[in-house]
Amino acid sequence: MYKLEIINISKIFKKNGVETIALSETNMKIPKGKFVSLIGPSGCGKSTLFNIIAGLLRPSSGEVLLDGENIIGKKGCVGYMLQKDLLLPWRTILDNVILGLEIKGVTKKESEERAIPLLHRYGLKGFEHHYPRELSGGMRQRAALLRTLLYDQDVILLDEPFGALDAQTRLMMQTWLLQIWSDFKKTVLFVTHDIDEAIYLSDEIYVLSPRPGRLKAKVTVNLPRPREEQTMLLDEYIRLKQEILELLKEEEPLKRVE
Ligand SMILES: Nc1ncnc2c1ncn2[C@@H]1O[C@H](COP(=O)(O)OP(=O)(O)OP(=O)(O)O)[C@@H](O)[C@H]1O
Ligand SMILES: [Mg+2]
Repeated sequence: MYKLEIINISKIFKKNGVETIALSETNMKIPKGKFVSLIGPSGCGKSTLFNIIAGLLRPSSGEVLLDGENIIGKKGCVGYMLQKDLLLPWRTILDNVILGLEIKGVTKKESEERAIPLLHRYGLKGFEHHYPRELSGGMRQRAALLRTLLYDQDVILLDEPFGALDAQTRLMMQTWLLQIWSDFKKTVLFVTHDIDEAIYLSDEIYVLSPRPGRLKAKVTVNLPRPREEQTMLLDEYIRLKQEILELLKEEEPLKRVE
């Protein structure tokens, strides 16, 4: 059985009599423990799909199965780091990281006992009582990711978590995320605009076409793990990159500047 199945999901938004088809008949089968990326142009419905999986939005049609059970409209079944996931500025890093546990009703003492070792292990030791504004962008993203992780669900949705980071920090964060993923054995769904990031991290990559979002292809990444910087020099890596570039290019003809 698959960990997560997206079956014929479509979403049409209606506003003032105007219909926008955000997603049309999307199907995905995500095996347990895999790292799966979604790549596609802006506006093709990636965040919409995540909102549906997380139960925040009802689809116009289709089902989402988690361990074989339909979770449409059910919140709290998956961990979700939103595209613009901001830490609350008035809470310390520790208090931000335990937010999900607090919402679940876990006591503050127990939440802290679970969070502090994670903060220490994953590079935020000494910053527990700092406020978000006192941390670098990369550290803030780490805290937001740890908060998602502590929510403690098998499936984690990450919507462009590293979009705002510079290339060097991004590479560090990717390695860090792969470490966490292999430590915690989660099933990860990851949205990115970056082809290199998708290949470097993933087992499978779904390429989406522009609005209305539709699955264009599924690319399997058979690169050895653990992934390291050398991985990006392998022939297979370069072949995958060409394949995905072609898939995206077919949809986005270069606009000529006259
Ligand atoms: N609540 C809403 N009401 C109306 N239209 C919406 C709503 N949410 C999203 N849309 C539309 O649905 C389409 C898909 O949006 P979505 O945010 O899912 O795209 P995306 O792939 O995540 O884009 P990006 O890469 O820029 O984050 C867009 O055309 C958007 O304008
Ligand atoms: Mg989005």
